[in-house]
Amino acid sequence: MKKHNFYAGPSRLSDYTLKLTAEAITDFAGTGLSVMGISHRSAEFKDVMDSSIEIVKELLRIPEGYSVLFLQGGASLQFCMAAYNLLDKNAAYVNTGIWATKALQEAKLFGDITEIASSKDKNFSYIPKGWEKEVHPETSYVHITTNNTIVGTQYKSDPDVGVPLVADMSSDLFSRPVDVSKYALIYAGAQKNIGPSGVALVIVKDDLLGKFERPIPKMLDYRTHIEKGSMYNTPPTVAVFACLKTLERYRQLGGVDALLERANIKAQMLYNEIDRNKMFEGTASVEDRSNMNITFVMSEKYKELEPIFLEFVAARNILGIKGHRSVGGFRASCYNAQREESVKVLVKAMSDFEKRYK
Ligand SMILES: Cc1ncc(COP(=O)(O)O)c(C=O)c1O
Repeated sequence: MKKHNFYAGPSRLSDYTLKLTAEAITDFAGTGLSVMGISHRSAEFKDVMDSSIEIVKELLRIPEGYSVLFLQGGASLQFCMAAYNLLDKNAAYVNTGIWATKALQEAKLFGDITEIASSKDKNFSYIPKGWEKEVHPETSYVHITTNNTIVGTQYKSDPDVGVPLVADMSSDLFSRPVDVSKYALIYAGAQKNIGPSGVALVIVKDDLLGKFERPIPKMLDYRTHIEKGSMYNTPPTVAVFACLKTLERYRQLGGVDALLERANIKAQMLYNEIDRNKMFEGTASVEDRSNMNITFVMSEKYKELEPIFLEFVAARNILGIKGHRSVGGFRASCYNAQREESVKVLVKAMSDFEKRYK
């Protein structure tokens, strides 16, 4: 029976990625060896790493002067590495959710942190506006979280901040075009839009590194990984291979412009139903709604039906829509590999639920 997978991460991978990765686990690039059991220094694996980096550059139209890295430790290690490598005395953080808060707290180990804006007053249901003009010109960088996976909010454009801009794009990288030239550093855990967990993708502007005196452990220094082409130590070979297949698939589909169109269609179908169906309501401010993580609750009158709705959708093989405990209700994650068909099944379940219980 076909499952409709709405998990927030790890999340659905395309059939293309799964099929080719499964094949490479038994016979990788015609070697007769598994991609799990061949040296990362082999010519075949080196080609996987190099091609992955090249496709990232192509898909995101990354200008000269940036390096692309495949690292370990997830996005959470990047909370620390970003500050370790780029924070001199002060940095400014925009606090838009639990992940942004974690990034900010980690950076406090390395310098003074200004929380330049926050949407905590309304349970992070919106993206703060107008803070850009308050950025101090001497601050090392401003950190934003472009898509807030838990609360379902998303920046709709790349902010202009006048100082280096650092972004956690874990849950929306490759879902839309990004003007990389505006950023000093972009990072993303792979397990939503790039591949399996175990890899973090990092895009870093080379000339911002090594600017001030701070001893940095080798593994946490971006320069180590740049110099060694993401092969300073043994990379997670299977995960990187699966990322390459996902990136190839993005290229086949027409790149980030086409992916944005697909994401908009899926998200709009769900938001239309949320707005039409009086049993449900969205939790994110309308202009900041994410097209990756669609969050909603049962409206006040029907609140007690939330567990019943979860059972109702489970019977239709809809999985992973229980909301994060800090928001409650439901979250339908619609990353690039989400199928339009699954979104239609969820929309139909919502309208059938209305017919049955309203
Ligand atoms: C926006 C965002 N940042 C960071 C993380 C943490 O990622 P990781 O588990 O790869 O450390 C997540 C995980 O869901 C996330 O959604």
